[in-house]
Amino acid sequence: MKTAEIKRRWLEFFESKGHTVVPSASVISNDPSILFNIAGMVQFIPYLSGDVPAPYPRATSVQKCVRTADIEEVGKTTRHGTFFQMNGNFSFGDYFKREAIQFAWELLSTPEDKGGLGFDPERLWVTVHREDEASIELWLEETDIPRERIQSRGNEDNFWHTGQPGPGGYCSEIYFDRGPDYGVEGGPEADEDRYIEIWNLVFMEFELSEVRSKTDFDIKGELPAKNIDTGMGLERVAFLKQGVENMYEVDEVFPVIKAAADMAGISYGDDEEDDVRLRVVADHVRSALVIIGDGVRPGNEGRGYILRRLLRRSIRAMRLLGVKDEVLPSLLPVSRDAMKESYPELEKDFKRISQVAYAEERAFLRTLESGTQLLENSVAEISRGGTLSGDVAFALHDTHGFPIDLTMEMAEEAGVKVDREGFEALMKEQRTRAKADAKAKKGGLQTDLSAFAALREGGPSEFVGYDALVADSTVRGLVADGASVPVARAGETVDAVLDLTPFYAESGGQTSDIGIFVGDGFKARVHDVQNPVAGLAAHRIEILEGELEAGASLSAQVDSEHRYQAQQAHSATHMIHAALREVLGETATQAGSLNQPGYLRFDYSYPEAMTAQMRAEVEEAANLAVRNNFEVGYEYMSYEDAKKSGATALFGEKYPEIVRVVDIGGLWSRELCGGTHVKSTAEIGPISLYSESSVGSGTRRVEASVGLDAIRSLSKERAIVQALSDLLKVPGPEVFDRVGGLLGRIKEAEKTIAQLERDKVLAGAGEAAQDAQTVGDVRFVGVNLGEAGGGDVRTFAQDVKQRLGDTASVVAAFGAAGGRPTVVVAVSPAAQELGFKAGDLVKTATGVLGGGGGGKPDLAQGGGQDASKIDEAIAAVRRELQERG
Ligand code: SER
Repeated sequence: MKTAEIKRRWLEFFESKGHTVVPSASVISNDPSILFNIAGMVQFIPYLSGDVPAPYPRATSVQKCVRTADIEEVGKTTRHGTFFQMNGNFSFGDYFKREAIQFAWELLSTPEDKGGLGFDPERLWVTVHREDEASIELWLEETDIPRERIQSRGNEDNFWHTGQPGPGGYCSEIYFDRGPDYGVEGGPEADEDRYIEIWNLVFMEFELSEVRSKTDFDIKGELPAKNIDTGMGLERVAFLKQGVENMYEVDEVFPVIKAAADMAGISYGDDEEDDVRLRVVADHVRSALVIIGDGVRPGNEGRGYILRRLLRRSIRAMRLLGVKDEVLPSLLPVSRDAMKESYPELEKDFKRISQVAYAEERAFLRTLESGTQLLENSVAEISRGGTLSGDVAFALHDTHGFPIDLTMEMAEEAGVKVDREGFEALMKEQRTRAKADAKAKKGGLQTDLSAFAALREGGPSEFVGYDALVADSTVRGLVADGASVPVARAGETVDAVLDLTPFYAESGGQTSDIGIFVGDGFKARVHDVQNPVAGLAAHRIEILEGELEAGASLSAQVDSEHRYQAQQAHSATHMIHAALREVLGETATQAGSLNQPGYLRFDYSYPEAMTAQMRAEVEEAANLAVRNNFEVGYEYMSYEDAKKSGATALFGEKYPEIVRVVDIGGLWSRELCGGTHVKSTAEIGPISLYSESSVGSGTRRVEASVGLDAIRSLSKERAIVQALSDLLKVPGPEVFDRVGGLLGRIKEAEKTIAQLERDKVLAGAGEAAQDAQTVGDVRFVGVNLGEAGGGDVRTFAQDVKQRLGDTASVVAAFGAAGGRPTVVVAVSPAAQELGFKAGDLVKTATGVLGGGGGGKPDLAQGGGQDASKIDEAIAAVRRELQERG
């Protein structure tokens, strides 16, 4: 009997008994204290507790349920499925124990050809609660079951509650005996593998006030009405009816086992360990299909985390079976086909469901690759039975997004334990640090980071961008002006934190990615990405259209051209660093860098400027590495191992225990780096080192253009040479000599011009002597020679004095080469005898010009500030001569 048929018979039977058929609720529970619906009764809790009057006295349903508390048991036992369906019949203050027992017996024992489930009544067993003697009587009255197949048990087995305060009650369970091949005689008390529980009748009559555990709870009192809540495990009945060994082999699950075995090239049933893995795969793939179908997306918290864990566990199980490629594109459609008769919506919505699942698988495979390497390296150093340190577990979680359960499972497979306490302590430390960080930054000039710190508590925002540039993701939170906001609308700019992101946040010198977010009815531009607290990427987005809510799904799309060029520059920076060390020696260590599309800047410690020769060598070494098309590889290792392997790190930087080492051409360039890089160096294209300068003592800076930008800047320079060549009418290579020659000639010409100027000035001396005026007792020449320099002014003054012969004469000549005034005063012997001294007169002049000077009585020279005052200075000298005459 197919599963869908059992379901059909169930609903039909209870409908015929006056029950309203209620469709399954979503697997997502409405009750905030429960993540998923774990039983058929959850959607009816308000009616069972009496909080809301029931719209019908009797109801029946087949509910989709998810329980993951026993996830480790999946595949190992016959009956632990993370997804299962529960058939239920419910009475809200209507019938009670008697009818519930009677209905159950009738449906189970009615032969298949009469529309029942056709269980052999001889093989049915029943349990009741020890304190519920009355039920034993009812079983004996209403059915053919003999007293010896009724067993009494305690709270552990025969009291049912949800685990939360609310309705609860004694229950009576029905078991099917699979026969002596499956275990010992003695009923369910003796062996629950041989005797399989198929149906639980809960007699809900109590209200629980506190529930501490399955057996430890407080009863507050009786419910307003006595209710019935029953649950039959559909998969359990199916496996018994289909004559298979366990719930994973039923018609709705087994096809995935078959497909997975085919992929792995093995046969189901050959090896118990492999079989367990195949069952895990089939169970988890089906659960994920249904959970995504009901709208959950993979994430780091709550339901999203459970979904992520199911998907990751199934992918891991396939890897352990030797399948390393993507598996979901092959398995998910098989699960859909097996389930579509019961859930046609899974087929209709498959495109969306599969996109979510496949994106998660791709992201996980990338994570697995890097994390597995680290885990394997670490485990290799530990002997069997040893313990993996909390540090490594933390690094796996923090850097690689490995959930702790995954680390524990993988470690366990290698026979190694995990220091869970150490891990938890580091997690706690990180939370405290993030909070302290946020607190320290509060109130200062920095933004308040507490909203980001709170989001960080949900784990790191996983970076999937080493390979992927597009990823489906979920908005974990939106932050505007330091506060969480539920929604952002068109025109607003906010910071968005995603569960996982392909966007690189600015760090290690590499500029952040830019790009877009698109989703249902909205679009946003990503302008910048930063890590406001470690491990959390905040995308600064501007909403272009529609609105974006926290919790929404979106497609995060990195501008691939921008990223490509940024990583060209980043890899080129590593190469310039290696080249500098090659040419200048090991002491040329990195002091800082910036990589953005088309451009790199690299600061390094070095006491002096590079010669042109060195610059050319560095550029050549870097470009040679491009030409050699070195592979760019990366590896995760401990910081100590990285240092030992010769990797360079930034001095004074704090590195985590586990670091990423990027190497180019093997040992040629090995650096600690979390950035993104080209796959091989030929992708970079040319690196053009165009500048070398000083940035403070002992630190130098080189700048280079990279890739197409290098070509563009080189081509600009070529155009300049071409223009010069045209202008000078010589071939390009001769431009330098030609310009050198021209410069020489210009210099010569300038010299000649200066001489001519001088000659011209001096030629004016005769005329000036003739124009001498009598001022007081002397002949006076006061003249402004314009641009003439000090030497010429002096020659001129002496020349004029000479020409005036034996007369008592005073010559005051001024010039202003370069705008700075000079004055030379020459006094003839006769004038000196009259008491005039050149030095005094110069002082008179420089007093006006705003300067000073001095000399001998016959010749003195001075300077000043203000050339515009030369005429005034001449007048002052003249006045002095007049007054003293
Ligand atoms: N609530 C009970 C169970 O889950 C019966 O439906 O077993």
